[in-house]
Amino acid sequence: MAKEFKRYLVTSALPYANGPVHIGHLAGVYIPSDIYTRYLRLRGRDVISVCGSDEHGVPITIKARKEGVTPQQIVDRYHALIKKSFEGLGMSFDIYSRTSSKTHAETASAFFRKLYDEGKFIEKTSMQYYDEEAQTFLADRYIVGTCPKCGNDRAYGDQCEKCGSTLSPDELIDPHSAVSGSVPVKRETKHWYLPLDRYEEFLREWILDGHKEWKTNVYGQCKSWLDGGLQPRAVSRDLDWGIPVPVEGAEGKVLYVWFDAPIGYISATKDLTPDWERYWKSEDTKMVHFIGKDNIVFHCIVFPSMLKAHGDYILPENVPANEFLNLEGDKISTSRNWAVWLHEYLEEFPGKEDVLRYVLCANAPETKDNDFTWKDFQARNNNELVAVLGNFVNRALVLTQKYYGGKVPACGELTDYDRQSIAEVAAVKASLEGNIENYRFREALKDAMNIARIGNKYLADTEPWKVVKTDPARVETILNIALQITANLAIALRNMGFRVGVLDADIYGP
Ligand code: MF3
Ligand code: ZN
Repeated sequence: MAKEFKRYLVTSALPYANGPVHIGHLAGVYIPSDIYTRYLRLRGRDVISVCGSDEHGVPITIKARKEGVTPQQIVDRYHALIKKSFEGLGMSFDIYSRTSSKTHAETASAFFRKLYDEGKFIEKTSMQYYDEEAQTFLADRYIVGTCPKCGNDRAYGDQCEKCGSTLSPDELIDPHSAVSGSVPVKRETKHWYLPLDRYEEFLREWILDGHKEWKTNVYGQCKSWLDGGLQPRAVSRDLDWGIPVPVEGAEGKVLYVWFDAPIGYISATKDLTPDWERYWKSEDTKMVHFIGKDNIVFHCIVFPSMLKAHGDYILPENVPANEFLNLEGDKISTSRNWAVWLHEYLEEFPGKEDVLRYVLCANAPETKDNDFTWKDFQARNNNELVAVLGNFVNRALVLTQKYYGGKVPACGELTDYDRQSIAEVAAVKASLEGNIENYRFREALKDAMNIARIGNKYLADTEPWKVVKTDPARVETILNIALQITANLAIALRNMGFRVGVLDADIYGP
């Protein structure tokens, strides 16, 4: 039997504060997490949803350097922009925090320090690329070169964005500095490593044996990482932007962004409530991480190993990662400015937040990469929201207005057909709930829309506009049922995280 949980802790990947949020982020992470959270809240469950800006890491310092401003100025700008646009969309995080906060620095330092004191790290000196011109070590995205796997000549020191391979700077062919363009030399430097190999057995048991219910894309990635064998991972970097490594003799070194960022979920919870330990330290909490597929290894392998090493905290119960959303057949790219940015959408389509939610959920890349096109956006708006949903609600309400002055008429005796329609709605509602609880949000949305379809069919079959001439008493029952279906539809859509629901004529009207 499935375990019963007393409370839920929903986390959504902390967006990097080096650019605005786009539709790919929304479809992959934030709309699913918002639906899940709103649904649980409406069911009266104890749930909190935490998020915030990820404000460390090399992409931020590179951007600052390019613009001639400080990293703090960059994160201040994008944190404000992202926070505001999430609010504009109606995201219902209980807190939207940031990893440059004091709470976070303290929490991440203490986390590191505990592992350090307990001997959970390996300390290792190695030769790493160094840019003599810029006088800086070249970690992660500070170093570019040719990908050994696919030949892309703009691969980064941590990853090739073309083929998705995880890389280390040493694997790059013809490496050069992203800061000065110069060819780097090698220099000695000391770092701390989390020996992931020591957690392999635990991870195998926990994920491969214990979480066979995880989405196949997630489970499959975990299995291939584990089958490939895990290596120690450096958790510090030579950078001047980040949380200082809280150890003597570590001047000029900061925590690796992927070490501190997930701890941001803990810090955000602390900022939200003094009762944070109830969520993080109880086996009765169901923690769910909403992320995109590029984050799987960090949330399923690295962070759980950190949590296990620490020992005080729970592990995620599920990590329903999504695939990617493309835009008009092309990969969404911040650097190529190929995206639909949330803040721009909100400006250009005021009042149409739910249309975006609808389209992105209907088209969410749950099992494979998907494509967003404006043609599809328009078609879904017109053929689904207007023609199915709007049409039904409009007819039910207009007829009620016309015949009963807007008052809900009484329900008389039910026919078999009435009973059958009501039963169909109940079945769809049950299916919708099961789909949300199992992270199948597209299916859940289809269920919600099916309530409108049942309603349309009900009106078409019962023809109240005709029957009113011969049997006005029967029409009272028909419209009573149509309104009950409307109410169920409204609740279902609320469950799905739609804010204005079905009653906004400006959006869904005739
Ligand atoms: N900033 C990362 C990204 O956008 C996500 C960080 S998730 C966290 O890919 F868990 F590390 F916070
Ligand atoms: Zn590649």
